[in-house]
Amino acid sequence: MGATPSLESAARGAKSSAALEFLRNSPKKLLINGKWVAAKSGKTFETLNPANEEVLALVAEGDKADVDEAVKIARKAYEEGPWASARPHDRTKVLLKIADLIDKHAEELAELETLDNGKPLFESKNIDIPGAAETFRYYAGFATKIYGETNPSDPSMFNYTLREPVGVCGQIIPWNFPLLMAAWKIAPALACGNVVILKPAEQTPLTALRLGELILETDLPQGVVQIITGFGPGAGSSIAEHPDIDKVAFTGSTEVGKLILKASTGNLKRVSLELGGKSPNIIFPDADMQQAVFGSSIGIFMNQGQVCCAGSRVFVQEKVYDQFTDSMSQFAKSITLGNPLDASTRMGPLVSKEQHDRVKGYLKAGKEEGAKAKIGGEPGKQERGYFIEPTVFTGVNNQMKIAREEIFGPVASAIPFKDENDAVFQGNDTTYGLAAAVWTKDISRAHTIARKLKAGTVWINTYGQIDPMSPFGGYKQSGFGRELGKYAIDLYTQIKSVYLKL
Ligand code: NAI
Ligand code: MG
Repeated sequence: MGATPSLESAARGAKSSAALEFLRNSPKKLLINGKWVAAKSGKTFETLNPANEEVLALVAEGDKADVDEAVKIARKAYEEGPWASARPHDRTKVLLKIADLIDKHAEELAELETLDNGKPLFESKNIDIPGAAETFRYYAGFATKIYGETNPSDPSMFNYTLREPVGVCGQIIPWNFPLLMAAWKIAPALACGNVVILKPAEQTPLTALRLGELILETDLPQGVVQIITGFGPGAGSSIAEHPDIDKVAFTGSTEVGKLILKASTGNLKRVSLELGGKSPNIIFPDADMQQAVFGSSIGIFMNQGQVCCAGSRVFVQEKVYDQFTDSMSQFAKSITLGNPLDASTRMGPLVSKEQHDRVKGYLKAGKEEGAKAKIGGEPGKQERGYFIEPTVFTGVNNQMKIAREEIFGPVASAIPFKDENDAVFQGNDTTYGLAAAVWTKDISRAHTIARKLKAGTVWINTYGQIDPMSPFGGYKQSGFGRELGKYAIDLYTQIKSVYLKL
């Protein structure tokens, strides 16, 4: 019997025959030592299409036993295999090949991403998949540009540094940008000569698995990339706790980030954390209002608001508060909510029932605390699927639950402010510090505020730009370590100092 008898219905609207073929080949397996294997327990779990709540595929449920096996293989590949000592040019070639394969299969990957996650095809096609290819291409270039230094040592000595790989890296990623997050993790790790064990999110394992297949088409040696699908407690926690994993890179909730850090104390593995946010997006009356409305809307509604750096607290100067929130509500009203596979859809469902329930809880909490949904505030009217209407809450103050906690849904909390100091004070009054934005034509004010905001990324007169060449990461409880740019090389190398007596 086919494991996914309802596939045709679950993947309704999918056009790519390659994507359907991939889904048909279910249950999906774990990638260990260059081979696809079932979980040792034989267990599988379902991954759903959140637009219609139907099962897309069964996926191997890896747990501790599988992680142990993957680590054994990874350790051997690292210590004995050719990758850590490969010519940098050869690493470049492999990473470029992965990028090319992602491009070649872009349509299929975009459909799989949309089916599994619910994000509009418009976004998968234009952001996630090309972004993943670009990330591999960017780090392909880095493989040949990882430098040590010659230090100004005593003349009787020659002292230099080597940047060496960290070793076996566990990488735990979330469901909001499944393939892109896999690329952010795998590409710099491989460029530096590490081996990896990737754990995709249980809600969205498919594109990482397809990436695994593509990686097998390259010359990457066996055992350099393992992919273990499974749940947080189980596959994820076994990675976090494993005594023979040298580094863990995690993107996800602040709550789980803290667990990862605690688990790291067993063997003092290195940890980098990219966690939640409640980013302030500050609008001054002298801003280009049309652009500010557009950018702020994209900033909170893109990917159904399931974005760690979403501009979820929209601070609007009190003089323009009503006008701005009116315009933003109008924009929200114009967003086409529906089947994410339709080319014209601009908002799909949330990723899961759990996330849907969580966001509905916040909509309720906002109303109970006295905020008013100027637009939205309700689940979508679709019969099936985890839809939420794009929502703009007005009458919010910065102490309300909807202003303090990460909602991770298409919900903007619009908060008035008086002046520059007030905007900065309120903007920084949060436990998070991932991103922030300011809209103004006054360049001096823009740069002054950019310095004062406690956030890892600040946008001026735009929102949400991310590029592999620029670092990304958090202040405060949004985590530590910087991914992307040359900074990711710091995460995936360690420095050795060598002295030679002349
Ligand atoms: P999560 O933090 O539980 O999941 C992220 C990843 O961590 C998944 O791969 C999951 O399997 C893994 N994980 C979960 N528990 C683990 C454990 N004990 N040990 C090791 N790995 C573990 O996030 P979840 O529950 O999916 O979403 C909850 C909230 O987290 C969201 O509403 C949102 O506020 C936030 N979040 C933030 C993200 C970001 O990009 N910063 C991404 C996803 C969620
Ligand atoms: Mg899914």
